[in-house]
Amino acid sequence: MNAHQNDTPILRAEHFTKYLTGRKILDDCSISMRPGDVKVLIGPSGAGKSTFLQCINCLLEPDQGEIWLGERKVDFKNTKELYDLRQHVGMIFQEFNLFDHLSAERNVALALRKVRGMSRADALERAHAELARVGLEDKAKLYPAQLSGGQKQRVAIARALAMDPTILLLDEPTSALDPELVGEVLTVIRDLAAHGMPMIMVTHQMEFARAVATEILFMESGRVIEQGSPEELLAPGAQTRTQDFCTRLLELCGEAEPSQEARS
Ligand SMILES: Nc1ncnc2c1ncn2[C@@H]1O[C@H](COP(=O)(O)OP(=O)(O)O)[C@@H](O)[C@H]1O
Ligand SMILES: [Mg+2]
Repeated sequence: MNAHQNDTPILRAEHFTKYLTGRKILDDCSISMRPGDVKVLIGPSGAGKSTFLQCINCLLEPDQGEIWLGERKVDFKNTKELYDLRQHVGMIFQEFNLFDHLSAERNVALALRKVRGMSRADALERAHAELARVGLEDKAKLYPAQLSGGQKQRVAIARALAMDPTILLLDEPTSALDPELVGEVLTVIRDLAAHGMPMIMVTHQMEFARAVATEILFMESGRVIEQGSPEELLAPGAQTRTQDFCTRLLELCGEAEPSQEARS
């Protein structure tokens, strides 16, 4: 992946601060993405991880801070620029957010038709290609109710990929899944990473983070309090908050999914 790297970040979020109902939820959080970067955000529930992701694609507007797409600073007050930012930044949520009344192929094709203005035939052709990329070419005609949780999340990933995102944001993409379905979704994400898709992912899947992350950011109380490579932060015996958190996750959760806790 290092072969892809150059000097200009494709996206930078700088010094984000966000208040919600009078409380400071994000406090001076920054992240910078270069081609091929896979950054994993971890930290306790309520740390501000989801808020940070939502500010990065301006689903929530930060109260302070800047976003840069390549060399260009995004003007939050400019609707066209916000729209452009969201075109570049794909988002995957914990709970899939598929339309139940649309088949898998039509879930993927919808934005291609509505946003890109593609013809029905072209949109469906692209949808099939994206469904094939996540291993679901034979499920294109099925409705969400006919799919497993893992398959639904793969459809959601195919839908995001169909928009040709510059980077993907994934907010606990496997936390709503039964344990036996986590692997198939992580395999798809790992494959995207291996093909150089830049991504920022909130997850408690520490083996995934260790294997795939180019950097781990540990958040607590709205701040990034630790940041480094998995080798640095998760070295055996490393005296880091990240290592400590992982040890506690394993102790607390045993064989249960650590991220089944209620989403905040
Ligand atoms: N819409 C909201 N209004 C007020 N507080 C919120 C809102 N969304 C999240 N929060 C609070 O912000 C903090 C961070 O939430 P969140 O970003 O979801 O954390 P995480 O994803 O790390 O669990 C929590 O204390 C949460 O209660
Ligand atoms: Mg969250």
